[in-house]
Amino acid sequence: MTENIIDGKAFAAGLRARIADGVAAFVAKAGRAPGLAVVLVGENPASQVYVRAKHKATIEAGMESFEHRLSADTTQAALLALVAQLNADPAVDGILVQLPLPRHIDENAVIAAIDPDKDVDGFHPVNAGRLATGIEGFVPCTPLGCLMLLKDRLGDLSGLNAVVIGRSNIVGKPMAQLLLAESCTVTVAHSRTRDLPAVVRAADIVVAAVGRPEMIRGDWLKPGAAVIDVGINRIPADGGKSRLVGDVDFVSAAAVAGAITPVPGGVGPMTIAVLLRNTLVAAHRNAD
Ligand code: GUN
Repeated sequence: MTENIIDGKAFAAGLRARIADGVAAFVAKAGRAPGLAVVLVGENPASQVYVRAKHKATIEAGMESFEHRLSADTTQAALLALVAQLNADPAVDGILVQLPLPRHIDENAVIAAIDPDKDVDGFHPVNAGRLATGIEGFVPCTPLGCLMLLKDRLGDLSGLNAVVIGRSNIVGKPMAQLLLAESCTVTVAHSRTRDLPAVVRAADIVVAAVGRPEMIRGDWLKPGAAVIDVGINRIPADGGKSRLVGDVDFVSAAAVAGAITPVPGGVGPMTIAVLLRNTLVAAHRNAD
């Protein structure tokens, strides 16, 4: 790997090893393992892959994994009843309801039903409010993973110009809050932003989370900028196959950026590692 490439896979492996040590210490003290409950409704293929990966990583870290797979026609009432049961279960430290949910279920209602102190995804409005106001809580896994990579590479971020492209509740908004808390000057760009290349050119840090394959090009970047690519897009490739690409055109961007995450092997592995970290933190809070 060239030296401007940020190896998220290696960073995530180190983080997971430290978490496994932390889990062993927790077990020795509390006499039980931290527990993560993951709820999957329906058969979304991408969600099935993510849930399987989360289960495997949870076990590998020495935690308890409680998997709940419900059929696509599960009612909202039944899902809310399961969330209430998990909220009340002392063996469950963290609860994650995999998104997206089937259309007949109100996602916001389900997220709001999770105990904020078991909300290891950091999606509950209470945790979003805590992040926005600087109170300790749970921070969504992907943006927190991005911040860890940035701080590892750049050190102090204060005073840097950061552009977050995308304004989702899962990535864009919490990413902007995290960078603001690090004293960056933060711009949130989105589909209605005028002259996006000019906005990106002013940035020392670019976080791309738009879901548009290879949209951000090297000639948009300030030379030396740090580029974090959250996109995971599958596009057609030669021979009828497909390949994964990010929201950033990697080849042209890597020639200009001071640091850049690849896809795959950049941000992706960080999400699950941070989920395990949040679950260990939840277990400590519940045990204290
Ligand atoms: N769907 C895509 N990413 C995520 C995530 O981080 N958490 C949950 N619960 N669902 C997702």
